[in-house]
Amino acid sequence: MILPIIAYGDPVLRKVSVDIDKDYPNLKQLIADMFETMYHARGVGLAAPQVGLDIRLFMVDASPFDDDDEDKPELKSFKRVFINAYILDESGKEWPFNEGCLSIPEIREDVNRLSNIKIKYVDENFVAHEEDYNGILARIIQHEYDHIEGKLFIDKISPIKKRLIAKKLDAITKGLVKPDYKMKYPAAKKRR
Ligand code: NI
Repeated sequence: MILPIIAYGDPVLRKVSVDIDKDYPNLKQLIADMFETMYHARGVGLAAPQVGLDIRLFMVDASPFDDDDEDKPELKSFKRVFINAYILDESGKEWPFNEGCLSIPEIREDVNRLSNIKIKYVDENFVAHEEDYNGILARIIQHEYDHIEGKLFIDKISPIKKRLIAKKLDAITKGLVKPDYKMKYPAAKKRR
């Protein structure tokens, strides 16, 4: 089932998400629904707060990036579910990458992040992993990880750039920006 994606301005996108355990209700279905939602919106990652749940769950499928770079076959097969993830270390050099977010449609900005991460998490079967990532994979994971920490990529842009997009952000919150996937807008929610 395709779930509506929570738009910028909803407080759930600002919560620090909590750990879950194996018994989280309908977890398998939730994961399947989130993948379906992500693919429908042509995203490369999706985090639980973006479907209204403040739990430490996100997924990544980097395969769309494989088209851009034939030297990176590891992207094609990179599909992962991250549960109860914690970034243990970030290192390397800061580099800019043009980021977007399904919760913030029609805005893209260059964001600087460190190139390397070490992350621990459990997968959808609650098997524990501790892994190192760099490049695009680290970048996608850092973006999704920020979601479960209540952070958004626009927090990392300059105050000037932020001022330039302020009206557009307001329009997103009010439901005036309509991408071709289903969204849930904070303003619309209050009317219920
Ligand atoms: Ni995002």
